[in-house]
Formats: sequence, structure tokens, C-alpha cells
Amino acid sequence: MCGIIGYVGSRPAEEILLSGLRKLEYRGYDSAGLSLIGDGEIRSVRAVGNLDRLEAALAGDAAGATATATLARPATIGIGHTRWATHGRVSEANAHPHYDSANRVHVVVNGIVENYMALRERLVSEGASFSSETDAEVIAHLIASAYRDDLAGTVARVLTELDGYFAFVAMTLDEPDVLVGARRECPLVVGRGADESFIASAVPAFLAHTRSVQLVENGEIVVLRAGEVEIRDGAGETMLREIVEVDWDEETAEKGGYETFMLKEIHEQADAVAETISDRTARGDGVDLADPLCFDEALLDGVQRVVFVACGTAYHAGLMGRYAIEDWAGLPVEVDVASEYRYRNPIVGPGDLVVGISQSGETADTLGAMRVARERGARVIALTNVMGSQATRECDGVLYTRAGLEIGVAATKTFVAQLALVYLLALRLAALRGSLSAARIGELVAAMRQLPQLIDELLDGLDARVDAIAEWCWQADFFLYIGRHAGVPIALEGALKLKEISYVSTDAYAAGEMKHGPIAMLDERTPVVAVATSSPVLAKVINNIDEVRARGAKVIAITTAGDDTVAPHVEDTIAVPATEPMLEPLLAVIPLQLLAYRIAMRRALNPDQPRNLAKTVTVE
Ligand code: M6R
Repeated sequence: MCGIIGYVGSRPAEEILLSGLRKLEYRGYDSAGLSLIGDGEIRSVRAVGNLDRLEAALAGDAAGATATATLARPATIGIGHTRWATHGRVSEANAHPHYDSANRVHVVVNGIVENYMALRERLVSEGASFSSETDAEVIAHLIASAYRDDLAGTVARVLTELDGYFAFVAMTLDEPDVLVGARRECPLVVGRGADESFIASAVPAFLAHTRSVQLVENGEIVVLRAGEVEIRDGAGETMLREIVEVDWDEETAEKGGYETFMLKEIHEQADAVAETISDRTARGDGVDLADPLCFDEALLDGVQRVVFVACGTAYHAGLMGRYAIEDWAGLPVEVDVASEYRYRNPIVGPGDLVVGISQSGETADTLGAMRVARERGARVIALTNVMGSQATRECDGVLYTRAGLEIGVAATKTFVAQLALVYLLALRLAALRGSLSAARIGELVAAMRQLPQLIDELLDGLDARVDAIAEWCWQADFFLYIGRHAGVPIALEGALKLKEISYVSTDAYAAGEMKHGPIAMLDERTPVVAVATSSPVLAKVINNIDEVRARGAKVIAITTAGDDTVAPHVEDTIAVPATEPMLEPLLAVIPLQLLAYRIAMRRALNPDQPRNLAKTVTVE
């Protein structure tokens, strides 16, 4: 996930920006840059790779990096950025800061400008000359083209033209003592010093200099001068904002105040979904997966069958893909764990679309399975979170999730992003095949665009609610997870999460399979977690719940808000907001992540680093 830092004060900005960027390294990045204003000039330096390379570029001795104008005196105002590529490949030209054609306005941007293609076309027709492939660059050009003599006012006007989820900080040679930040969904925080001001995407970036913090709310604009900060709402009204003193140590700050990375990442899931779906669902009522750099929709023409290959959590995303694609696109779907697929003799070839799902893009078995399919003539696409990863080099097209770097070993935000993306793939296939009407696709797309908001609603107070459930079940030594239909992948994923981070034995079954074996495991000590959200087979799930309760087991059900049919049959319920039945499982996994998390914490285990597990499994 990209990182932003801005500084205006009286000390040399370069050092402060660089050290701020180092504090944001934990977020993951592939390139970095900074711009400084001094003596009527802008110096901008960008480099691919780590911050050592940026430092070398600043010193003037890095190949593959650029540095402009050398300033006579150290600048005391500037902006810096670490980039995690989403739109546009990893390259120096795509690294931030971005600037307008006259090189007077520089910006650093996080998130996604959904309507950047239309804006870019318009700006080009007006004479702007673009130097990157990014969506972010349009902001610099828009500001430059609307600028008269007031950067803050210009940013306010430009904001009304932008669709998407983003945060940015801008500066211009014409007002060399001002930084202006703005945010929509993506975070921005302000740091207050005596005669200096900081702005960043996260507190660690300036914690070494000040602990006095102001939060910038959604839709607000912030104007920073040395030691002066004004926060305005979208209408230009000045907002009073409390200055909070944070007592976080550096590690807590990196975790955004959360006790672990896993908990932080669970709370980043609305963003992960928003970034993954936003521009792909922004044009009209449909889904557009095309990306000139990595995905040609022609790959989806004439597909006869879809095959998902993946491991672990990513495999569960593939299972969800089966329900969605069969239901919406009417195509046969096969899903296999990659380690099995690659050593079977899979019947695969032209006409098949093989999708390797892997958050890291480096999982040896998934790569192996993709290679087998490709050798046999199938079209192979990678669905991954990491630009430039091996999977992206061994396929015919790439669909990126945009969850940002995931540090916790247990996948959480990358999983919901994978689910969101397989839903989009299913909808696109449905549109191409005409298996759903345009109106129905429009309804499903609208429901998908609601998901980030529903995730936020769901997370509000959820942790405490789940912990109250963990209190009565955390000592159990076996949990059974059940679900039916699209609830099955979620039951499997919930069980995997608990196993991974709590070392509690779990089993997960399609609930209809229970009486064919696993029911023998149940007694009054067994918590059973049932995914019982809306579905065509909810009544059958309730029957299965009754069966397990008849054996004395205690049932925790994930239900849909407003449904009152499940509660009378179970000990405890957690309701997720109602949406399209196929999409509710994406919400249902969140309480299950938290249940695993709270049980791990009660067992005094570190969920970020579970024993025996690695984040990336590059060996088979
Ligand atoms: O990087 P990948 O998505 O290919 O990784 C696949 C699995 O190793 C991964 O999902 C694993 O199961 C996680 N620890 C799940 O939390």
C-alpha cells in the first residue's frame, strides 16, 4: 500500500521526508520519490526499488533514477511517496511525485482515481502532456489547468471532478510555502510541530518529530504552512479539529494503533475491496476488467470452462469462483489445489481459462499448475496481489487484487480482495455470454459497490461481540465449521484461520456431508460454526444445525441481518448486513477471521507469526 509524507517547516525537508518514508516501508513498496521546493525551483527525485536507491539518486549516483534541478539551499518544504504499483508497471516514470506539463504542480497520491481515463483524454485534448501510465498523474494536470492563485481552492474544485478512493498532497511553485492535502476514503493524518507541519498517510511517518496528531476526515481538505494547519470541509468551511497526543511506540504506530498486523489488516478490508473493484465497476453498470498493461479481455472470448488452481486460502477463493461463475455465467468450473492439479494428468487445453490465484504470486505449486495448463494450450491468467511476481510472468494476462501489502501470515484482506475479483470475473463472463441481463448485472455491480460500506458497518463493534463468543469457546479443543452452497468456501476458510493461528483442531464440511462421517465427532464440548447467511438452501442449513445440536454441540451461526429463522436454533449469532446472497459470504468471513483471532489472543499466541508457517511458500 502506498505511503505519503509531506513536510513544511524550517528544517531541511529532504532528510525529514526520507526518514518518514523509511517509517512507511512496512506498508510495502516498489519505488519511491520526493519533490522539494526551494529558490523558485522544484527538485524531484524518483527511483525504482528501495529507499537506498532513492538516496543514491539524491546523491546523484543511481542508474535508472531521475533527479531534476539541484537547489542552492536546502528546501524546507516537500512531499514524498512510496509506491505499491496498481495502475501502471513498476517504473521510474510511474513512481510519484507526478507533475503537470509545466512542472509547477507536484502531487503524491494513494488509492485510485476511477475516472482517470476520461479525465486524461480531456486533459490531453487540452494540451497536457502525460509522462506516466498512472491514474494519479491526472490530479497534477487537473490542478495545473484549474489553478489561478489559490492552491487550496483549486484542490477543492478538482476534488469535485474526481471519482474513486484516494488521498493526495499537492504543492506548487506558485505558492512555495503551502501544502494541500485531500482525502476520500484513503487515510491522511496531520502532525503538528511548533513551527512545522507534517501530513502523511500514517502516523509513523512523523512520529520521530511530533506526537500531536489531527485526523483528516473523509472529504476534507487540509492546508498546511509552517506551524499552521487549517482543515476545511468540501464546502470550504473551516473545521475545528482536536489535536490528539499519541503515546504509541514505533511498533504500535506501524500497526496503526492495532495490537497486531492481522487485526489492522482485518480492519483494512473495506479498502482492499474498494480498491480492487472501484475502477473496474466505474463505467456504466457493467464490469470492465481490461487493463492495457496486463489484461486483454479477448482472453475471455469463447471460454468453454474455467479452472481455478490455488493453495490454502486462495483455493477457497477459487471455490467461491465456482459458485459465482456457474450461477451467473453458466460455465462449467473446476477447482483444484495446485499441488494435486500439477501432478494429475489434467484434461485441459484450448477453450479452458485457467486462473491461478495467489496473493504472493510466488507459490511454487500454483506456478507449477499454471505451467502445466499453459503447456497444454489453455489460456492462463494470474490473479495476484503482487505486481511483478513470478505468476505475472508466466501467464497470458493478470488480474490484480489491490489489497496492499499483507504482513500477517494469515491471509485476511487479500482473501476478501480475491473474492471480490472472482465475483467481477464471473460478472464479466456473464455479460460476455449473455447469461444475465444487463439490468441484473447492473444490480449485482451496484451491490458490489456497496460492499466496502457494508464491511465498515459490520466491523463497527464486531471485535467486542466476537470476543464475547470467544470467551465461552476458546478452550475447546475441536471446532467443526459447516456451510452449504457459497457458504462452504467460507466454512473452509474460517476453519483454516482458526487452525493456522490458534493451533486448534478444526474440520470444515459442506453441511450435507456431516452425516456421512464428521457427525461422529460431535458432543456437548464441540463448538460448531455454521455459515447461515441468505441462500437458496438456508432451510437445509438449519436442518443441519438441528442435527448437530441434537448431538449436544453448541452452535455459533453467521446469519443475515433481518433474518429471524436461524437464531432460535443456535446458541449465538453474528449477523452480517444483508446484500445479494452470493455476496454475503464475503462479509461472513470477517467474523470468522475475528473469531480465530480472538481465540488465538486468549490462548496467548501471536497471530502475526504462527508457528511452522511462512507467508510465501516458494517450495513445493
Ligand atoms: O501466496 P498464496 O496466496 O499463493 O498463498 C497460498 C497459501 O499458502 C496461503 O493462502 C496460506 O494458506 C495462508 N497462510 C492462509 O492464511
